[in-house]
Amino acid sequence: MRVIIVTDKNQMGRVSADLIVSDMKRKCPYTLGLATGSTPVPLYKEFIRRNHEGQIDFATVMTFNLDEYVGLEPTHDQSYRYFMNKELFDHVNISKKLTHVPDGRARDVAASADAYEAQIRDVGGIDYQVLGIGSNGHIGFNEPGSSLSSRTRKVRLTQNTIRDNSRFFARKEDVPTEAVTMGIGTILESRKVVLLASGANKVEAIAKAVEGPVTATVPASALQMHPHVTWVVTRDAATGLRLEWEQA
Ligand code: F6R
Repeated sequence: MRVIIVTDKNQMGRVSADLIVSDMKRKCPYTLGLATGSTPVPLYKEFIRRNHEGQIDFATVMTFNLDEYVGLEPTHDQSYRYFMNKELFDHVNISKKLTHVPDGRARDVAASADAYEAQIRDVGGIDYQVLGIGSNGHIGFNEPGSSLSSRTRKVRLTQNTIRDNSRFFARKEDVPTEAVTMGIGTILESRKVVLLASGANKVEAIAKAVEGPVTATVPASALQMHPHVTWVVTRDAATGLRLEWEQA
């Protein structure tokens, strides 16, 4: 397990882009697992810059996002499909047909979640999965108590997550209460994983996930079991870590 402590969000974006881009050069076609939220935005900015400078080609890249709110149309400005288009897909030479986000509007969410799993399997799995972490230790929308072998499914969001995410909505009441998320078992099957964390509100989650026991109470702690995981953490999010980790 590798933990890299970086000075700020921009360095977090550069360091994580370096990891992923060097792996992308190794294999074609390539499958990326992507996250939304504010944390990966500096990474997506790096992807866009490097794509414009000709350093990375997205033409044969396929993507699978971790999660989507139940009930939001893809055109809703808080849906994760909308977010991905705005923050990454609209600015690089990716084919939108090769980008996948779980369907939050499916009539049969369970069947659609199973189909999402099958699609990931059919393309040979995810090469590099990008993750953020919730202040409660969630990854994707696998809230505390999620089975460490869970698969893509519909979940109920905790009050903690609804409160954290209400900053993006006009009113807390507008935040959806359910989502579809890849499971922890699904995430652990990715060949490589990079988890990004920035900000003082992630101190406790990072300390528990990186150096605490592996437990369903802290879903991100399951990554300690992954053979190729890198945690890229800004200094202000790393103040709860006690072991000697790499400084970028
Ligand atoms: C979103 C996701 C979530 C976020 C987490 C942190 O696709 O998977 O687990 O990564 O809630 O969100 P931010 O980055 O906004 O603090």
